[in-house]
Amino acid sequence: MKLILFLVVLPWMAVFARNFSQNFDLTWGSDRVRILNNGELLTLSLDKDSGSAFQSNNEYLFGKISVQLKLVPGYSAGTVTSYYLTSQGSTWDEMDFEFLGNLSGDPYTVHTNVTDFHTYSILWNPHVIIFYVDGTPIREFKNLDSTKVPFPESRAMRIHSSIWNADDWATKGGLIKTDWSKAPFTASFRNISAQACIWAYGSGAYPCNSNSWLAKQLDAPSLERLMWVQKHYMIYNYCIDLKRFPQGLPLECAATT
Ligand SMILES: *[C@@H]1O[C@H](CO)[C@@H](O)[C@H](O)[C@H]1NC(C)=O
Ligand SMILES: *[C@@H]1O[C@H](CO)[C@@H](O)[C@H](O)[C@H]1NC(C)=O
Ligand SMILES: *[C@@H]1O[C@H](CO)[C@@H](O)[C@H](O)[C@H]1NC(C)=O
Ligand SMILES: *[C@@H]1O[C@H](CO)[C@@H](O)[C@H](O)[C@H]1NC(C)=O
Repeated sequence: MKLILFLVVLPWMAVFARNFSQNFDLTWGSDRVRILNNGELLTLSLDKDSGSAFQSNNEYLFGKISVQLKLVPGYSAGTVTSYYLTSQGSTWDEMDFEFLGNLSGDPYTVHTNVTDFHTYSILWNPHVIIFYVDGTPIREFKNLDSTKVPFPESRAMRIHSSIWNADDWATKGGLIKTDWSKAPFTASFRNISAQACIWAYGSGAYPCNSNSWLAKQLDAPSLERLMWVQKHYMIYNYCIDLKRFPQGLPLECAATT
């Protein structure tokens, strides 16, 4: 089912938010979420009792969502920090950045330097979903218009982020456990932005605060860069993780890069 997308460009509507005091809800472990610097910085912490999470108030149907994120530094084995878009309901769409913790000095899955902030973006339009790290595309998921591999195009999604304990699988397949003597584990977020179409309840409309990303597809040089990054830096690929998917790999694994 295709929804009618109203491409109303509203230049006066600020590309939210940069300010974590507005537009976001703390969803769990709220005493482990800190909002600092007048709303410009948000930290999520995990300790033995709980992780923590936040989500956007708004729901979006298509957009380019970016955040600058500094992952848990040092020993982070057993922890998972995630940043994702998901819809609600018993069947839902979801697209994720998941960062599995590691031993001190060993790299995270998608990048090697956690002492600094890096920009993680998800571009989602009717043709493609592209994941970027610091502006470099690292994964592309195309809308193949096939009935076999579903593509999210009808359910609005919220931005979510969380940190939690996953030491039963996250690091070396669950062999390395979270070291609670090093808690709390803290990830920091800043400059979150959504150039996106915002689902307006009641009206059925999706006014977009910008649409420069709407027709975007990877051109040949970007695709080459993506292949290069995957070849040299990709150390975890869920499409080959049979331990995680003992019942069979997700369908898109046969079809995408
Ligand atoms: C962020 O929003 C809060 C609450 O609305 C406000 O008090 C604060 O001044 C804002 N910060 C900035 C940097 O505008
Ligand atoms: C942790 O670092 C090791 C050594 O570099 C690497 O082989 C492994 O894939 C990393 N694990 C995760 C979960 O990032
Ligand atoms: C990691 O980033 C920090 C701060 O930007 C820099 O000083 C350091 O040299 C970087 N380390 C590596 C291994 O790239
Ligand atoms: C904040 O994010 C926006 C959108 O991703 C980007 O254009 C801008 O350069 C960022 N600002 C800073 C100070 O990093």
